[in-house]
Amino acid sequence: MASEASMHATSAQQTSEAQQKGILLDARNLVRTFGGLRAVDDCSFTVTRGTITGLIGPNGAGKSTMANLITGFTRAESGSVLFDGTDIARLPAYRIAQKGLTRTFQITRELERMTVIENLLAAPHNQLGESFWLGLFSPPAVRRQEEEHLHHALKLLRDFDLYALRDEYAGNLSGGQRRLLELARVVMTQPKLLLLDEPFAGVNPVLATRLGHYIEGLRQEQGITFLIIEHNLSIVERLCSTVIVMALGRTIAEGTMAQLRENPLVVDAYLGEA
Ligand SMILES: Nc1ncnc2c1ncn2[C@@H]1O[C@H](COP(=O)(O)OP(=O)(O)OP(=O)(O)O)[C@@H](O)[C@H]1O
Ligand SMILES: [Mg+2]
Repeated sequence: MASEASMHATSAQQTSEAQQKGILLDARNLVRTFGGLRAVDDCSFTVTRGTITGLIGPNGAGKSTMANLITGFTRAESGSVLFDGTDIARLPAYRIAQKGLTRTFQITRELERMTVIENLLAAPHNQLGESFWLGLFSPPAVRRQEEEHLHHALKLLRDFDLYALRDEYAGNLSGGQRRLLELARVVMTQPKLLLLDEPFAGVNPVLATRLGHYIEGLRQEQGITFLIIEHNLSIVERLCSTVIVMALGRTIAEGTMAQLRENPLVVDAYLGEA
């Protein structure tokens, strides 16, 4: 387990790496209304490649709606979303996921009836074996890809301390173990940017620490960038090099957690009550 000090070191390391790497996600002037309510009201922010970026703000600020707009689960009325240089604002969610921007999904009834390892092997998209012609003409390529997936799955299970549970039905896992499986499943799709909406909610402190380490490990080893919506600010402070604050549908500030604590706008809108 990394100490508090080393967590801060990784945050500083993230910042300097990020400065060299540039912007991965650029959401500009997004608007989404529900009836008369402007849930997302001309909201803009960027996420820098190689960081774990936090998104915080009071209940109803529009954070989850922003997450849905970015990943294509809700359509914006106006604005643009550039991901890795291309405009994705009008693409359906599955196409956006194929480009490497995705979020976690709950383990459904169907997945509960599969084992842990089966859950991971069923996760990757763009599998060669699913293309009829390739499957017919290039079995070695298909087999090679299957072997790579198995290798990746087993490594993830070891990294996430789920290896002993690999043949257990997902339906028999505890709430915390399911949360890890949900993360492992989406990591199997080899995302560039992973969006997590309150991943620590309802997770006990011991598992929360582990989950934080797995996320930091994925950033360092697999180069995955994270955008994490979270209300637990001590976790946000430990994990995130940059934190974006939303209130009333728009971005009101951005900085390190330490900077935000000194920002009167942020204290008034959120931290004062938290
Ligand atoms: N599908 C919907 N239909 C109607 N109103 C919605 C819908 N989704 C969100 N809203 C409203 O939009 C506003 C923003 O909601 P959103 O869920 O994005 O907030 P949030 O920042 O994620 O809040 P929380 O921290 O509580 O999860 C809220 O007032 C919410 O009630
Ligand atoms: Mg929300």
